[in-house]
Amino acid sequence: MAIVNRRIVLAARPHGEPRPEHFRLEEGRMPAPKPGEVLLQTRWLSLDPYMRGRMSAAKSYAKPVEIGEVMVGQTVSEVVASENPAFAEGDLVLSQSGWQDYAVSDGQGLRRLDPADGPPSRFLGILGMPGMTAYAGLLEIGRPKAGETVAVAAATGPVGSLVGQVARLKGARAVGIAGGPEKCAYLTETLGFDAAVDHRADDFPEALARACPDGIDVYFENVGGAVFDAVLPLLNDFARVPVCGLVSGYNLSELPPGPDRSPLLMRAVLTKRLTLRGFIVWDFAALQDDFLRDVGGWLRAGRVQGREDVVEGLENAPTAFAGMLRGANFGKLVVKVS
Ligand SMILES: NC(=O)c1ccc[n+]([C@@H]2O[C@H](COP(=O)([O-])OP(=O)(O)OC[C@H]3O[C@@H](n4cnc5c(N)ncnc54)[C@H](OP(=O)(O)O)[C@@H]3O)[C@@H](O)[C@H]2O)c1
Repeated sequence: MAIVNRRIVLAARPHGEPRPEHFRLEEGRMPAPKPGEVLLQTRWLSLDPYMRGRMSAAKSYAKPVEIGEVMVGQTVSEVVASENPAFAEGDLVLSQSGWQDYAVSDGQGLRRLDPADGPPSRFLGILGMPGMTAYAGLLEIGRPKAGETVAVAAATGPVGSLVGQVARLKGARAVGIAGGPEKCAYLTETLGFDAAVDHRADDFPEALARACPDGIDVYFENVGGAVFDAVLPLLNDFARVPVCGLVSGYNLSELPPGPDRSPLLMRAVLTKRLTLRGFIVWDFAALQDDFLRDVGGWLRAGRVQGREDVVEGLENAPTAFAGMLRGANFGKLVVKVS
């Protein structure tokens, strides 16, 4: 009997929060590798906020997923058949197989993983794209100095949690912003952040000010919206703001109502001589070896850690993905596919 390949495709473009009807689970035949190709079986699928942007047709830094196409995504996959001499059956690789059980690849862009390096799903989180984003954005743009205050939101996620931990290793004070008391307790009690503030609390702006008595020197921007509104008045002269993500707005299809506050922002940029710099992780691809050396070393030495939120089963990816955009995940969201 032919082996079935389950694939989750984009069924419709969402306006607002993604819902089940925006995805479709299809079943087809498992693909067969041609000469020069490998057949990959997905073990782990990474779910990341950027995927919301790919569901939209709006112009961005990467091309959208087309209706009917498999949702994009990085995977840890196993080579289950090889017609390519560079790969053998049983090899574990990082791949862009997307939301499906099986994919074929000509080997281009695959990165072989060494099982001796620990649980392979780490390469989707702390030792992968999100970890690299935190490392490069913080050190190249944020440039924290000892004694400075570094604030970061979405602080229990794979990007934010590493930003705070690396900030502390550099001698800075780390203030995490997260949704709810449980996430805040994890930041201070498990990850060693100096303070944590719940952005869902009614007194969030005042609590953030209390947690940053000397102001903020580096704000690593992951969320935007109301969190940025509370951060802006606290930024010190010459503060640096690596603009990494704006997840609070990913489900918005138009600008939120209210007065145009860009003059307020630009006045702060001018008078406080702020540096705001957007970046995409691959801008810093040249730092990949430094990242793996440093963060890999800190991880082995127990100086940093990464938490995973594991969802079982490819069919549960759409619900888990939509939940992540409103904070239902607690740690790096990965799907155990097989
Ligand atoms: N520039 C790049 O190359 C690049 C690469 C990777 C990631 N990113 C960006 O980095 C950010 C973090 O990514 P991640 O993978 O580490 O995700 P994540 O933290 O695991 O998940 C997103 C988190 O955002 C928080 N959030 C959602 N809505 C919010 C709101 N309205 N206000 C405040 N927080 C809200 C939630 O945490 P709480 O429950 O704590 O609120 C949620 O868990 C995202 O913006 C992502 O797009 C950028």
